[in-house]
Amino acid sequence: MTNKLHDFMEKRAFALLFGIIGVVSIGGLVEIAPLFYIDSTIEKVEGMRPYSPLELAGRDIYIREGCYLCHSQMIRPLRDEIERYGHYSLAAESMYDHPFQWGSKRTGPDIARLGGKYSDEWHVDHLTNPRSVVPDSVMPPYKFLATTKLNYKYYDKNLIANRRVGVPYTDEMIKMTVSDIQTQVDPDADDFDGFMARYPKAVVRNFDGNSEDITEMDALIAYMQMLGTLVDFDIYEAKMYDNER
Ligand code: HEC
Repeated sequence: MTNKLHDFMEKRAFALLFGIIGVVSIGGLVEIAPLFYIDSTIEKVEGMRPYSPLELAGRDIYIREGCYLCHSQMIRPLRDEIERYGHYSLAAESMYDHPFQWGSKRTGPDIARLGGKYSDEWHVDHLTNPRSVVPDSVMPPYKFLATTKLNYKYYDKNLIANRRVGVPYTDEMIKMTVSDIQTQVDPDADDFDGFMARYPKAVVRNFDGNSEDITEMDALIAYMQMLGTLVDFDIYEAKMYDNER
């Protein structure tokens, strides 16, 4: 028995092509159309906040230096990853990343939960010469960061640009940008409390051990010490199990 439709399609390349396009578009529409009708696909979690100006500057350096070419920032929900790196990454944890830094190339380890894992001194040594702390490392050195002053006089413009793409920086945060960068490397600064109210859980200290200048090393380490520390996963998991009950 022959199937007429099958015979027809099989012998006509264009009919087959349009048939394939038709079938694939149905699948596409089912997945894409709902995205236009819901406000957000990201489940909100407590603790996420916009990056402090110094952390944001560190993130810019991270991108400029191409660290993402060897490091991912996304822990997959697989047992071996969770045992090595910690709780799997949530979409909300990169909601203020423009562009996000998930990556897929892991020449080095994933650094989504790096904050607090090492001391600032370790990071300074490691960035200055990775082989001094990890003898087999193939990571390149970034020694110049320690001697390059951070250019932050007009950094408020970066906060404004981020606000345009949806990061909720307030007028106050933008106004205080330069002062907040100086406060984050100086625990004795006058505006310490104001800064902590704007950026809860921020780490405030002299990251690179040089109190004379604010360097790119300060910014990059401030960024790395914040990674993965904003969401409290004990609370998050307790809530998740509450919902299931
Ligand atoms: C050529 C690939 C490569 C590049 C580029 C690179 N790294 Fe690495 N990184 C590695 C490798 C490999 C390791 C593991 C060995 C080590 O600890 O040095 C590593 C380790 C690390 C670690 C320790 C992670 C942990 O959990 O132990 C940090 C932090 C880090 N890199 C930060 C950076 C930063 C910041 C940059 C950009 C300035 C960068 N890396 C650029 C390859 C790279």
